[in-house]
Amino acid sequence: MTIQNQPEVQDQYEAYPYPSRDPRDEKKRLITGSPSNLAELNHYLFSGNRDFSQPFRALVAGGGTGDATIMLAQQLADASPDGKGHEGQVTYLDLSSASRKIAEARAKERGLTNITFMNGSLLDLPGFGLEAFDYIDCCGVLHHLNEPKDGLKALTSVLKEEGGMGLMVYGKYGREGVYEMQSLLRDLGKNCTTLSEQITLTRRLLEKIPASNSFHRNPFVIDHKASDAELVDLLLHSCDRAYTVPEVIELVSSASLNIASFIEPIRYQLETYLKDPKLQQSSVGLSRMEKAAVAEKLASNMKLHMFYVTRKKNTIADLSTTDRSKMETLIPIFRDMSAQQLSNNLKKTTTLKSNLDGVPLNLPLPRLASAIALRCDGRKNLSNIYAELRELDQRLEWSIFAQQFEIFFKTFNNLNHLFLRR
Ligand SMILES: C[S@@+](CC[C@H](N)C(=O)[O-])C[C@H]1O[C@@H](n2cnc3c(N)ncnc32)[C@H](O)[C@@H]1O
Repeated sequence: MTIQNQPEVQDQYEAYPYPSRDPRDEKKRLITGSPSNLAELNHYLFSGNRDFSQPFRALVAGGGTGDATIMLAQQLADASPDGKGHEGQVTYLDLSSASRKIAEARAKERGLTNITFMNGSLLDLPGFGLEAFDYIDCCGVLHHLNEPKDGLKALTSVLKEEGGMGLMVYGKYGREGVYEMQSLLRDLGKNCTTLSEQITLTRRLLEKIPASNSFHRNPFVIDHKASDAELVDLLLHSCDRAYTVPEVIELVSSASLNIASFIEPIRYQLETYLKDPKLQQSSVGLSRMEKAAVAEKLASNMKLHMFYVTRKKNTIADLSTTDRSKMETLIPIFRDMSAQQLSNNLKKTTTLKSNLDGVPLNLPLPRLASAIALRCDGRKNLSNIYAELRELDQRLEWSIFAQQFEIFFKTFNNLNHLFLRR
């Protein structure tokens, strides 16, 4: 098995499995997030058409201590007819046997039986003889390879033609100060013989760090505060690099893939940060991705880039149809949000206030927001929702409802809370 000349990366994750997790916590909670939420990946990669009670094969490449593996396997088990996920299978792959042990123990705690655990390098995937996958999750891994493009090509080699991936790599501007700090720690840590000595030195230094230090002044990077594993991952890594939006696009294109969407979409839209009409005017003519690149520079707070990629183009479920019969069959589905709770919260407000790592948001809500939210239970389609609202107001025309739903959908989808399925 090739480990591609990165034994120090493997050694790090053997000694400090990432992220730090206690399998007993599975009794108390399920860790959820992006990418790899089923409703979310269905929306972005399969136009909302995927039925997860049917066969589905997922790979988590560089699965670490198991967050994405456990989340995917649990969701697929819940969606499968036998409640165990025999239709929905997850393959876990990681270099680190210590990380795999923790991921396996977490699966055992949950009684999940739909996961195959493997140790090895994702670079060797083309030679493993595995059946191709519908979906691949690879988060926080490619940027630790000597040649990230080779890694993405290896992943693509085991992706089905119609499949897609959820990826995450570090973002350059939001990690300001991190690389200076890594370099500083290499200088100061020359006499340390073990990672554990380097950790002690780093903690000591962080207590005495000058207020002017660029890492100290960066409020977005706080991962190192969680535990030794997180500190090592952020500040003592032997191999990591960060990407700008154009560099992400170049990486993705090198494997002949397309970006379906960045997550959360609102972060990558110029209008989020540019409200001045004159300034907005200067962005006329820029493509969606060029605008995303400017948005990244303007916000300067993206410490990572999360995005869905596919071979095919136009894989997103969207509302861009004026055809009523097509629109009626769409089913809106919230991620990690109670429709009832949200509906109550929206009763007394006309805008939605939120905050994107220091950027305040004030997003428009339609008049019917609360009534629509209450009915987005993941089962009712737009035809059902319209029929219920018409019972309350006989004068409500489809065109008005469609207009109101569009505003509602745009606001919540841009924040990555609301998706569509069929
Ligand atoms: C920062 S952790 C991310 C873990 C997990 N994906 C997550 O987001 O929680 C990176 C993981 O990638 C694994 N890794 C690094 N290079 C790899 C490779 N070539 N093949 C497979 N796994 C690799 C490491 O062992 C480590 O567990």
